[in-house]
Amino acid sequence: MRDYHEFLDEILVPADAVQKRVKELGAQISKDFQNSEQLVLICILRGGVMFLTDLMRAITVPHAVEFMAVSSYGAGNRESTGQVRITLDLNMNIHDKDVLLVEDIIDSGRTLSSVLDLLAARRPRSLYVCTLLDKTERREVHVPVRYVGFSIPNKFVFGYGLDLDERYRNLPFVGVVNEEKYRAG
Ligand code: PRP
Repeated sequence: MRDYHEFLDEILVPADAVQKRVKELGAQISKDFQNSEQLVLICILRGGVMFLTDLMRAITVPHAVEFMAVSSYGAGNRESTGQVRITLDLNMNIHDKDVLLVEDIIDSGRTLSSVLDLLAARRPRSLYVCTLLDKTERREVHVPVRYVGFSIPNKFVFGYGLDLDERYRNLPFVGVVNEEKYRAG
C-alpha cells in the first residue's frame, strides 16, 4: 500500500484535536441523554465506525449500538436519485427509543436525509444526528444536525474512518488529499 505522505496535502484535523472534540461531544451527549432509558447509537457503515467506537467510549450513559448499511438506487450514483436502499438493516426495533445517528461526514446530505426518513417511519421516541465532519458548502438537502465535530471546507478528505478507494480509514487524523498526486500513483 502506498504511504499516504505521497499524496497528503495537509492535516486538516490532527489526531489530538479529533480525540479532544470526541470527548467533548461524548460529554454533551451524556448530559443531554442522562434521563434516557433507551439510547441507541446507529452507525452507518462504513465510514462512521472509527468515530462511533471512540464516541461510545466517551459517552457515560448506558446505550446500545446498532449498524446499518445503505446503497443508492440507480446506477451506482447516489446523487442521481437521492434515494437509498438498506443493504444491512438494524437488529433492533427502534420504536420508542432515543436514536442518535452517528456519521463520519455529511456532504450533500442526501444519504442522511433518506436514512432519517426510513428511521423516522419506525417511530423512535427521538431521532438526532451526530457527525464528526460537516461540509456545509456542499449541502443540497437540508438535514437537521444536533452535534457537529468540525465544519470543514469543501476539500477531498480522508482518514479517521474516511477512505480513499477503501483504504486509509485507519489513520487517526483527517487529512486532505492532493488529488493530482494520488491519481498519478
Ligand atoms: C459517505 C458518508 C456518508 C455519505 C455522505 O459514505 O459516510 O454516509 O458519504 O454523503 P452525502 O451527504 O453526499 O450523502 P460513503 O458513500 O463514502 O460510504 P462509506 O461510509 O462506506 O465510505
